[in-house]
Amino acid sequence: MTLNSLDRHRPEDDLVLDLTNVLDDVLGTTHGLSTREMEEWLPRLREAVAAVEEANYGFLDLPERRDLMAQVERVCTRSLEGKDTVVVLGIGGSALGPRAIFETAWGPYGMGEVGAPGGPSRRLLIADNIDPDGFAQLMQQLDPKKTLFNVISKSGSTVETMAQLTIAWRKISDAVGADNTPQHFAFTTDPIRGFLRETANRYDVPVMDIPDNVGGRFSVLTPVGLFPAMATGIDPKLLLGGAAAMNARCRGVEVESNPAAVLALVHFLMDRLKGKTISVLMPYSDRLRTFAEWFGQLWAESLGKNKSSSGEDRAPVGQTPVRALGTTDQHSQIQLYTEGPNDKLLTLIRVEDPGVDIELGAPGLTDGDSTLAYLQGHTLGEVFRIEQTATEMALVRAERPTLTWKSRTVGPHVLGQLFQVYELATAIAGELYNVNAFDQPGVEEGKNLTYGALGRSGYDEKGEELAAYQSRTEAWVLGGGK
Ligand code: PA5
Repeated sequence: MTLNSLDRHRPEDDLVLDLTNVLDDVLGTTHGLSTREMEEWLPRLREAVAAVEEANYGFLDLPERRDLMAQVERVCTRSLEGKDTVVVLGIGGSALGPRAIFETAWGPYGMGEVGAPGGPSRRLLIADNIDPDGFAQLMQQLDPKKTLFNVISKSGSTVETMAQLTIAWRKISDAVGADNTPQHFAFTTDPIRGFLRETANRYDVPVMDIPDNVGGRFSVLTPVGLFPAMATGIDPKLLLGGAAAMNARCRGVEVESNPAAVLALVHFLMDRLKGKTISVLMPYSDRLRTFAEWFGQLWAESLGKNKSSSGEDRAPVGQTPVRALGTTDQHSQIQLYTEGPNDKLLTLIRVEDPGVDIELGAPGLTDGDSTLAYLQGHTLGEVFRIEQTATEMALVRAERPTLTWKSRTVGPHVLGQLFQVYELATAIAGELYNVNAFDQPGVEEGKNLTYGALGRSGYDEKGEELAAYQSRTEAWVLGGGK
């Protein structure tokens, strides 16, 4: 199998976190953090980091889990022959990571020519919604004989994914017969429990593990992300190498030089001391657009809580994550960010060398005294970089706290670093906020009501609750003939 070797990591590719524009020297004391404010919190930060290390969360060791890589390699060898398309059926943490990996490796217009040099070895389609409109379109474009469905679910029971599975299983079975159907599936799920695991055992479907101590949104560096990566020609070792490099920078070092700890502290203090209740992640990189979506789920679902980590009621906490893209959102959101409420911490991601540049100018458009003559002699990359700096400066002038990640290149190795630093920062921020960053009770309620309405056994009461809600009298409705 040919894997993407474009991303050759060099030490100078390591991510640099520039914190200058969150300091009071730059922003003033109302919106900037002072040395005193940060120093006061250092003992608490040390405790938070120690608690995360002590808890030994499964995601920390994923870069070293050779056993999981071996599973991925085995299933690739067993399942991919004759398949030109991989369809991920999964939602939330089971979909956002694979999508971020694919787009970072292959770019937003993604496919290039499948199988051509420099392009992915297979199509990857990710079905993370059950709108029948979209799902029907997706299914219609598949050649069942050449398709592998990678069904990803930690619990092995999420209703959206299970519903999709039944449709996909039927389609394949109709096309190739019941006996051959399992050859068109690969499952990624809990090592022991759940419907997917049982079904894999029953029908001999190839199956890969999401370790018990790794939650959905922290699972991108398990087979959840690594299998779709490898199946489409991306070397998973680049992702794991990036995560390992970030681990080395964050673990066993002083908190002041630990990027994850500092990232967590700045977000926490900006929220609690400076009222920055919104965290905007704005990569200047098309390839990282979907990384910002992955971050949005991680930050929201992990930290938006109304119980303390020991389960007592507490005042709700949680910064609202917002995803943006430079320069696109300069023409949509930046007005709000510079002149609207000063309630946001912005994080920009800057890629110094995207690996390609394009000269500007065209005869008849940029010569002589043309209005566009100022573009002649410049490149698209130059304009892109100038706009990043200009935006950063405008934000600083407007006293908007802004973090900047700087990377020389962009690719799977850089993405592996980003995944790991944000997962660690989330765990540390959970300690600072005193919430459990690893549960999601607010998500479970909706799931259980749905199970009840669909008649799943054991959820009768939930079904009745939803029925009562649906039969209530609407108090205020416009339109619809009422
Ligand atoms: O982070 C989480 O745990 C969730 O977002 C899950 O990823 C999502 O609900 C899907 O769950 P599962 O993987 O069990 O199908």
